[in-house]
Amino acid sequence: MDELYLTFHFSSLMVLVFHVCEGQSELIGSSQPIVATLGEDVVLPCYLQPAEDVTDWTLEWARPDLEPRFVHVWRSQQELVGQNHDLFTGRTSLFIDELTKGNISLKLSKVKLADEGKYKCFIPSLEKETFVQLHVAPVSSPVISLSGMDRDRGGVVLQCESRGWYPEPEVLWLDAEGNLLSAGPPETVRGPDDLYTVSSRVTVDKRHNNSFTCRVQQNDTHQTREAHIHD
Ligand SMILES: *[C@@H]1O[C@H](CO)[C@@H](O)[C@H](O)[C@H]1NC(C)=O
Ligand SMILES: *[C@@H]1O[C@H](CO)[C@@H](O)[C@H](O)[C@H]1NC(C)=O
Repeated sequence: MDELYLTFHFSSLMVLVFHVCEGQSELIGSSQPIVATLGEDVVLPCYLQPAEDVTDWTLEWARPDLEPRFVHVWRSQQELVGQNHDLFTGRTSLFIDELTKGNISLKLSKVKLADEGKYKCFIPSLEKETFVQLHVAPVSSPVISLSGMDRDRGGVVLQCESRGWYPEPEVLWLDAEGNLLSAGPPETVRGPDDLYTVSSRVTVDKRHNNSFTCRVQQNDTHQTREAHIHD
């Protein structure tokens, strides 16, 4: 009789603990897309809140659109090899010291264009998942060209163009001393690959020998590319 009583209490306690955990824990990814530059490394965020040690649990990163879908699997306190999609071979890792803090963020090295997609971070035992969208920007250096003469102002019109941005960047023109030149608003075109091409024109004085810089920058992703021209 005693034994039965104890068993009953033990199992209802387990159910209770399970439900409390399940109710409280959230897996947090990123509501904003993560942007990586081609060839660089990127961290896809995913963590359990409130923090809990997940070292002993099975943890899965996957790309549901691929076959096989696995990107990185952690099981029995180590990386489970041999199941992942070939695309990711040798390029993924977890921050092992962070697992005790419930941080399951994935490091993806040497980003390829094919890495672009929706990643699922999943804890099977909790049935919790979250998604992280990765964009890959093959950002290129801007190109400055001579676009014409401005007879009215006795100047030269320079044009700067740069492709492969996400999100939309801003374009600045600077003179040799680093002073900002006033240019019209840049023209922005979004391509079928979701990436932006920007171009901007500026009229500069022909009288002095001078050099000019076109700087294209995107503050959210800390990307800056520059081109220079001497006339
Ligand atoms: C998870 O770990 C990564 C790598 O150390 C770090 O960049 C990130 O800020 C951590 N996230 C949290 C929520 O602590
Ligand atoms: C981006 O950062 C630069 C330098 O800090 C700043 O001058 C500029 O206004 C910022 N641009 C935007 C759109 O926030």
